[in-house]
Amino acid sequence: MCGIVCYIGSKEATPILIEGLKRLEYRGYDSAGLAVTDGKETCLVKEVGKVSRLEEKIKEDSCRGTMGIAHTRWATHGRPSVPNAHPQTGEEDKVFLVHNGIIENYLSLKEELLKKGHTFNSETDTEVLVHLIEEYYEGDLAAAVKKVLRLVQGTFGIALFHRDSPDQIVLARRGSPLILGIGENEYLAASDVNALLRHTNQVIHLKDNELAILNRDDFSISDFQDRRVIREAETIEWGQDAADKKGFDHYMLKEIFEQPDAVENALRGRLLEGEGVSHLGGLEGVLDRLKAMERIHFVSCGTSYYAGLLARYIFEKVTDFSVEVEYASEFRYRNLRLDEKTAVLAISQSGETADTLAAIREAKRKGALCLGLVNVVGSTIAKETEAGVYNHAGPEIGVASTKVFLSQCVILTLMALLVGRYQRLSLTEGLFITRALRKLPGQLRRILDQAPRIEEIARRYAQYHNFLYIGRLYNFPIAMEGALKLKEISYLHAEGYAAGEMKHGPISLIDPDFPTVAIVPRDSTYEKMINNIQEIKARDGKVVAVAAEGDSEIAGHVDDVISVPRSIDILQPLLNTIPLQLFAYYIARERGCDIDKPRNLAKSVTVE
Ligand code: M6R
Repeated sequence: MCGIVCYIGSKEATPILIEGLKRLEYRGYDSAGLAVTDGKETCLVKEVGKVSRLEEKIKEDSCRGTMGIAHTRWATHGRPSVPNAHPQTGEEDKVFLVHNGIIENYLSLKEELLKKGHTFNSETDTEVLVHLIEEYYEGDLAAAVKKVLRLVQGTFGIALFHRDSPDQIVLARRGSPLILGIGENEYLAASDVNALLRHTNQVIHLKDNELAILNRDDFSISDFQDRRVIREAETIEWGQDAADKKGFDHYMLKEIFEQPDAVENALRGRLLEGEGVSHLGGLEGVLDRLKAMERIHFVSCGTSYYAGLLARYIFEKVTDFSVEVEYASEFRYRNLRLDEKTAVLAISQSGETADTLAAIREAKRKGALCLGLVNVVGSTIAKETEAGVYNHAGPEIGVASTKVFLSQCVILTLMALLVGRYQRLSLTEGLFITRALRKLPGQLRRILDQAPRIEEIARRYAQYHNFLYIGRLYNFPIAMEGALKLKEISYLHAEGYAAGEMKHGPISLIDPDFPTVAIVPRDSTYEKMINNIQEIKARDGKVVAVAAEGDSEIAGHVDDVISVPRSIDILQPLLNTIPLQLFAYYIARERGCDIDKPRNLAKSVTVE
């Protein structure tokens, strides 16, 4: 979604802002712009499309100055166009402002301004903010911003400056992340820490209803009631290296190959092998309460939702909890029983997903114990939950989530193990799980070694337009995740189904042009999966099977087989995920798709 980068210091701002915007490209956007000032002149450049097009345009204009703000826009109000791109300016071209989020009451505010004679240049909700700030400005920009934000409903992360104060950037946030970067004799700000890492690893996260003023040699933070906020900078451990492609063609491929490390990081220091249990420091403070719960709800969106679906099967197997899984966008509007016997776990890579955050706030209001499983340290969900666990998977740049999904599945297994060992799970079963977890990284590496073969299979399927993915039990969520990966990055239609549902509808789709990807582990579902496959073959459907190593029967039933090492039933789906990620990746590559930045998608969905 939209991205913000700001700079104030002694260096030329434009290259820093452009480089920062490029670091945010992975989040998804359709236009970009910047405003840079040298104290006398302010240069404003905006362009539809890629940041590189903006860069080209700037070359002609040559924007010089040591302070500026920049933005990538993902259209919500008004189509992608130069007038709708940010920075937005008002009638007097004095205030330059970039905005992430949505101003919900912008229409009524705009009507008032129109009555007063204001004229608007864009269709955006953001432009209303600029006009209002100009109206309220009496020489103190921060004071005007605070007054205006009292009138506003909705979410915002904003950064702005005034032509008359060329040594000051004002930032404010409610519901949309903004992070200050403290450099040497310079300050930066961004909506995503990746845009700061090249310059500093010292950051301060603004909280909701806070405003920051960046001057050339100092900064200050206050709340909207003018109370001063003192907050220490945090050190970010991810280096810029972790966010680079390291020779891979795409971030997605790099992140697929990072999965053995992501699993090792998820397990590091968290397994007490002799006791067949896990240790999760982030849950220590709430462990007694958690053990006493009757219900747990997993709330999340997209791929993180599928991690929750898999966790339901795992928790049901090893704990006494009754488990619910819900899309965060549905959860927040349902009348659910959420009381002191209920834990709600938000699962989110970014920790900023608007629906997941809203769901947690709703659950908190009703007295549930709210927990988080997030990858981005210091993100809003991490801060707003009572306790939780970090993935420590490193930055995930590819829009299609891969390594964080796997890491989520591992950590959810650790959580089930932790609770289960206080409930029904025996030491023997606990040991069984911990040993199988330890083997995962090595097994994942063996699957990744097969990438060339998976590429060769994927190439042969790249011309089809529809795909069905099927699995049973633990592998049903994996079928849905596999289908999501394919549709996100290749724009092909793919559906994930519980294989048992085939006869209740989807089998009508099967013909020689509608291939099926079947997940066929050697477990209690095997015979039934073979029956499903035979029904598909009887209708001339092609089948690619993800099957267990050593399964000598499967090749006789299907067109192509990808073999994966065997694990215990609850962990087998983690291994089965990897071939599906690679299959989707190679099909998308064969079709020439923009894999890391698929159309219409954003890495972090910060609006409802
Ligand atoms: O950051 P989150 O995990 O909360 O994001 C949730 C979804 O938006 C995300 O998983 C999305 O579905 C990905 N593009 C999946 O690849």
